[in-house]
Amino acid sequence: MTLGIADNREVPEHLRQQAAQLRAELARHNHAYYVQDAPSIPDADYDQLFRQLQLLEQQYPALATADSPTCRVGAQPSREFAQVRHALAMLSLANAFDDGDVVAFDKRMMDALQHEAVEYAVEPKFDGLAISLRYEHGIFVQAATRGDGSTGEDVTANIRTVRSIPLRLFGEQPPAVLEVRGEVLMFKADFDALNARQRAAEQKEFANPRNAAAGSLRQLDSRVTAQRALRFFCYGVGVLEGAPMPATHAALLDWFGELGLPVCDLRATASGADGLLAYFHRLGALRAALPYEIDGVVYKLNRLDEQQQLGFVSRAPRFAVAHKFPAQEASTVVLDIEVQVGRTGAITPVARLAPVAVGGVIVTNATLHNEDEVRRKDIRIGDAVIVRRAGDVIPEVVANIPERRPADARQFVMPAVCPVCASAIVKPEGEVVARCGGGWIKCPAQRKGGLMHFASRRAIDIEGLGEQLIEQLVDKHIVTTAADLYKLGLGSLVALERMADKSAQNIVAALEKSKQTTLARFIYALGIRHVGESTAKALALHFGNLDAVIAAASHVLDPDAPSHLEQVDDIGPVVAKSIAQYFLDPLNLEMVAQLRACGLHWPEQAGTARPPLPQAGKNFVLTGTLPNLSRDQAQAMIEAEGGKVTASVSKKTSYVVAGEDAGSKLARAQELGIPLLDEAGLLALLKNSGAA
Ligand code: IVH
Repeated sequence: MTLGIADNREVPEHLRQQAAQLRAELARHNHAYYVQDAPSIPDADYDQLFRQLQLLEQQYPALATADSPTCRVGAQPSREFAQVRHALAMLSLANAFDDGDVVAFDKRMMDALQHEAVEYAVEPKFDGLAISLRYEHGIFVQAATRGDGSTGEDVTANIRTVRSIPLRLFGEQPPAVLEVRGEVLMFKADFDALNARQRAAEQKEFANPRNAAAGSLRQLDSRVTAQRALRFFCYGVGVLEGAPMPATHAALLDWFGELGLPVCDLRATASGADGLLAYFHRLGALRAALPYEIDGVVYKLNRLDEQQQLGFVSRAPRFAVAHKFPAQEASTVVLDIEVQVGRTGAITPVARLAPVAVGGVIVTNATLHNEDEVRRKDIRIGDAVIVRRAGDVIPEVVANIPERRPADARQFVMPAVCPVCASAIVKPEGEVVARCGGGWIKCPAQRKGGLMHFASRRAIDIEGLGEQLIEQLVDKHIVTTAADLYKLGLGSLVALERMADKSAQNIVAALEKSKQTTLARFIYALGIRHVGESTAKALALHFGNLDAVIAAASHVLDPDAPSHLEQVDDIGPVVAKSIAQYFLDPLNLEMVAQLRACGLHWPEQAGTARPPLPQAGKNFVLTGTLPNLSRDQAQAMIEAEGGKVTASVSKKTSYVVAGEDAGSKLARAQELGIPLLDEAGLLALLKNSGAA
């Protein structure tokens, strides 16, 4: 045996077994994590197993196999993708756009098969890229893109990095050859995270998860692909040798699931056009909440022999159809860019668009979020752009279409003053959002926004008090603050446009009803910046009553006082400061007092707050030898009262405790005028503060 040269013969059998076991175990955990979404061990334990296998394979290169999870990290870049000829062409699907198309498809199937009712396998139409995976005797050997349908590109190295794709199929007797067809995609959350990284690295962002998946899959350097959380769902089969073909599409996908391949849980079977349409509507309702994008659903004859019988027309199967959802993206032209003022004064640039149908509605405005975003996406007035409207989300401008930019496209310029109240627009250093400096006193837009928020369902919940009514009340100077709402009488309401007696009575009743609320709702309704529902709930729970919140807020801006607010879960310095600023403003305090005087009430409690320790926020420096206390004892006593012991004297030091032979620290304290304590003084301070 020659030392240092490891080949097959030299690998001790027990290590070979250990490597095989590690591989199997890692594959199992991988499947649980990426396919079943049910992690079976902590990440750290997985990493440890992985490292163990990596070390083994490094020590004995002969141990490395094509199905080892260690191959998933990416390989050396290739210069170009090799071509792969598909043994069975990868086709496309005919589309159905409305109920009529679906009924016609079902009728074609009934007629061709001479059935009364036809059974279909139904599944989402994944919005990604088609891919074919080849397994030989259960080992993943090749992946190819669809390409032109007959020839695609070899993306094996990249697909190896996709964790949900097994490198070895489960089961004792895998088929000699199995070609699995499916879709590679990127989950929405992974897409958002990727774009955040691209932004941070000043790299171009991807327009949508599909483009991101395509860009990641077509990387010549698979180490880049390895960083790009790609996923996969199977939806069909190419070549199958050495195993019987299941009888139905549903059974085929179930079998794929058993082999460890990712199949989608939303797959189902349905019967007749009614069944197909019911599935279409069910998935339409789920669409926005799914972790990945789908652009429709696919109906396929469930029986594979019937699929064969029907065969193909040109490049698409006769036995299947894709029923498309309304597109979520469309292109249009930016007519203008204006700004909108939100309830906290935030200035949002909004694109006015040539009307276009997106996601089933006509869109004429889309948000551009903020000035930086307009610059980064380089959206100009006159540009042709892609607009996106996903679910109930506000439409947004995704990207410009560079080749359609007109010569006279104009840059957006942030106005210097608020378009509503003419107060100066300010953008504090380091912040992305520009704001109207008018506040709700000067700016009607902020006033309206604030009142809308106050009355909204999750805040004080004043039924019937909508946008149009608030517009009128503010514009006619009937209402300035939320407290004014409770002074509205029937008389002032019926005098408004489009206000019938009955509606006015309903509003008065709703106002009355809204007076009984909870502390959390009340705090949330105030519209304090950074205080959303969950922070409002945490504050209410912690302090139990409003006066305790206001008292805690009044300490925040005092640098010497311990922050009571920051003891609340999830409240950090920024939120604490915002709450403090709100309650320091006498106008806000006045409005809160008026609201209470008008009868708004909620159950008040003691709260779970414990007062902060008396020496919290105080820094002590110990120097020299104390007569009775050891240094550790003194430190423990100080810390028990919330104080901190630091090593060196600075302006931030609250007290210097000096004993015998105190040296330079004492001198430095005297220089800075920091109070000095001896042991007796320290004990007295701690005793007094403890009693306080
Ligand atoms: S079946 C022979 N099922 O849609 C039919 N395709 O327009 C092969 N797609 O290129 C396709 N989800 O990339 C099928 N559940 C699904 C699908 C699906 C997405 C894509 C696929 C194909 C395109 C056809």
